[in-house]
Amino acid sequence: MAAPLVLARTVAARAFRLNPLLFSVLILSVFLFWSYRGPVQQQWHSMKLPQTSPHLTSHPVDVLVDHYKKKFERMLESQSSTLEEATAKYQERYHRPPPPGFDHWFEFAKKQNSTIIDDFDTIEESVQYLQSARPEQLRNAVRSAASAANAKACSWTTRDGRPNLMQCDWMGREVEKVLALVQDPLPDTELLLNSLDEPRVISPVGTSNDDQIPAWIDASRKSIWDRVTQICQDRKAEPSKNAGLNQKTGIGSLKFVTDVEDAKDLCKHPEYANMHGFFQAPTTFLFTDSVVPVLSNARPSTFRDILYPPPYYIGVKDMKPYNEAEDPDWELKRPQLYWAGSTTGSYASASSDTWRSSHRQRFVARVNQLSNESATFLTETSRGVWEPFTSQDVSPQLYDVKFTNVVQCEESQCIQINDYFHPSEKEERSTSFHYRFLFDLDGNSFSGRYYTLLESKSVVLKQTIFKEWHDDRLVPWVHYIPVSMDMGELPELMRYLALTERGSRISKDIANAGRDWLRKVLRKEDAAVYMYRLLLELGRLMNPPP
Ligand SMILES: *[C@@H]1O[C@H](CO)[C@@H](O)[C@H](O)[C@H]1NC(C)=O
Ligand SMILES: *[C@@H]1O[C@H](CO)[C@@H](O)[C@H](O)[C@H]1NC(C)=O
Repeated sequence: MAAPLVLARTVAARAFRLNPLLFSVLILSVFLFWSYRGPVQQQWHSMKLPQTSPHLTSHPVDVLVDHYKKKFERMLESQSSTLEEATAKYQERYHRPPPPGFDHWFEFAKKQNSTIIDDFDTIEESVQYLQSARPEQLRNAVRSAASAANAKACSWTTRDGRPNLMQCDWMGREVEKVLALVQDPLPDTELLLNSLDEPRVISPVGTSNDDQIPAWIDASRKSIWDRVTQICQDRKAEPSKNAGLNQKTGIGSLKFVTDVEDAKDLCKHPEYANMHGFFQAPTTFLFTDSVVPVLSNARPSTFRDILYPPPYYIGVKDMKPYNEAEDPDWELKRPQLYWAGSTTGSYASASSDTWRSSHRQRFVARVNQLSNESATFLTETSRGVWEPFTSQDVSPQLYDVKFTNVVQCEESQCIQINDYFHPSEKEERSTSFHYRFLFDLDGNSFSGRYYTLLESKSVVLKQTIFKEWHDDRLVPWVHYIPVSMDMGELPELMRYLALTERGSRISKDIANAGRDWLRKVLRKEDAAVYMYRLLLELGRLMNPPP
C-alpha cells in the first residue's frame, strides 16, 4: 500500500509547485480513487476496473433469497379456497378430472387446516409411472413382490374403507395412526410398504414386459450408477428453467443451488457417479425394475418409488421429540456450522476403494481441510461489484464438523478411515442446538434428523440427492439453505452467512421461517391429508370405473 502513496505525494509536491489548482484536482482524484475502492478487502486484484472484469452485481445469497421469497408468497396466495377452484386447478395441472372422493378429501383438508391444497406434484410424479398399468396387473405385482425372497417390504390392503397394515410392524403402525385421522371410507387398494430406508424401484429399460413377475435383485456394495441412469440415454436434455437466475448468481466455478429439482436430477449430473455413496457402493440395495406400487421414504430422480411421509419423521420423530428447553436463542448460539455423525452412506470394502469420495467423507474432509482444494470467495470491491478470488483457506474456525463413529467397512478400510479422520466421542443431538448453522446430509438414504433440525431455532443447510414427499412444500432459501453436491460454494456461503451482518440477519430469518413452517405444513395432520389424497389416486388406478 505504501508505494502508490509515496508516489502520489511526490507527484503532488511537484504539481503544487507548478499549479495549485492542478494540485487540488489531483488530491480530489486520489481521494475519489481510494474511496471508490469501497468497503474493505485487502485484495490487490480489486484495483481492476470492475466494468471490464467478470463480476456479479449482488451477492448470490441476496438474489436467491429474494427470488424464492417471492415464489413462496405466490404459492401461499394461490391456494384454492373452494372445491370448485381446487377441482379446476387439478384439471389444469394434471389434464384429467380429480379422482372419485376428491370432494370429501377437500373437506378433510380444510378441516385439518391444511395450508397446502393444490401443490401435490410429488403425488402426481409418483403415480404417473403406474398410469398405463391394468388394475389386476398392479394387484398381482404387489402379491408376488411381497412373497418373493428378499422382499423387505410388506403388503397392505384397504378393504371396506379401512386400511390394514397389521403385517407391517412399526412402520405400519405409524401409517395406521396417521390414517386414523381420516373418518371417510378409503378406496380399495393393495400396496407395498418398503421396510428399508433405501428406494427399491428403478425404471425398466429396453423392452419391458408389463406382466413380468417382480424379483428383488441384490446390487449392494458396488456401483449402481450405470444401471440407475440407463434411462437418461432416452431423455432429451432439457434446458435449465433458471438460466437467468444462474447467470445472476454464478461466476466461474462458484455456483449456488438455484433450482433444487435440477440439482437432484441425475441425468443432468453425470459427475454424481463418484460423489455420493449411494451410487458408489450402497450398503443395502434390493431393487426391481417391474411395475409395482411401492411406498418409500425417499428416492433419487430416476427411481419410481411412491413417496409418502416417512414414519420416522411423523411418528417416532428422530427417536426423541424436539425439546425447546435444550435450544438456546439465536444470539446465544455459536456462529459456526455443526455436524456430527457416523460414516454411513456407503459400504467401504477393499474391492471398491471409494470411501474418500462418499458424500459424508467428502464433507468432513473438505471443511476440516484434510484435502488441499482451494475455494472461490466473493468480495465487494465497490458497491454492486462482487468479484471472485481464490484461496485455500476455507476458514476452519467457522466449522465444527466431525465423525463420531466409523461403520460399514471391512476391517482394512475401517483402519484407514479411522487413521484419516480420527473420530471424536459421540455427541447428543441437543449439542447441535448450540450452533447457528446445522448441516444435514444423506446417510444411507434420507436424513432422519431433518425435521428436528428444522424445528430448532438454528438454520439448516441441506444437501441431498433424494426426493421426498415434502419437496413441494419446503422452499429453498426460505425455509432452509440448499447446498450443492460438490460444495464448491460452501466456503463463501458460510463466510457470508456467519461473518457479515446481512448474512447473519438472513440466516436468522430462515431459521425462524423453517421452524414456523414446519409447524404449519409438516404436522401429522398434513401427512394424513397427503396420504388420503395419494390413496384416492391409487384407488382410481386399482378400481376402474364399472
Ligand atoms: C384448525 O383451526 C381452527 C381455528 O383456528 C382450530 O379451532 C382447530 O382446532 C384447528 N384444527 C386442527 C386440526 O388443527
Ligand atoms: C497438502 O499440502 C501439503 C503442503 O503442500 C502437503 O504436505 C500435504 O500432504 C497435502 N495434503 C493432501 C491431503 O494432499
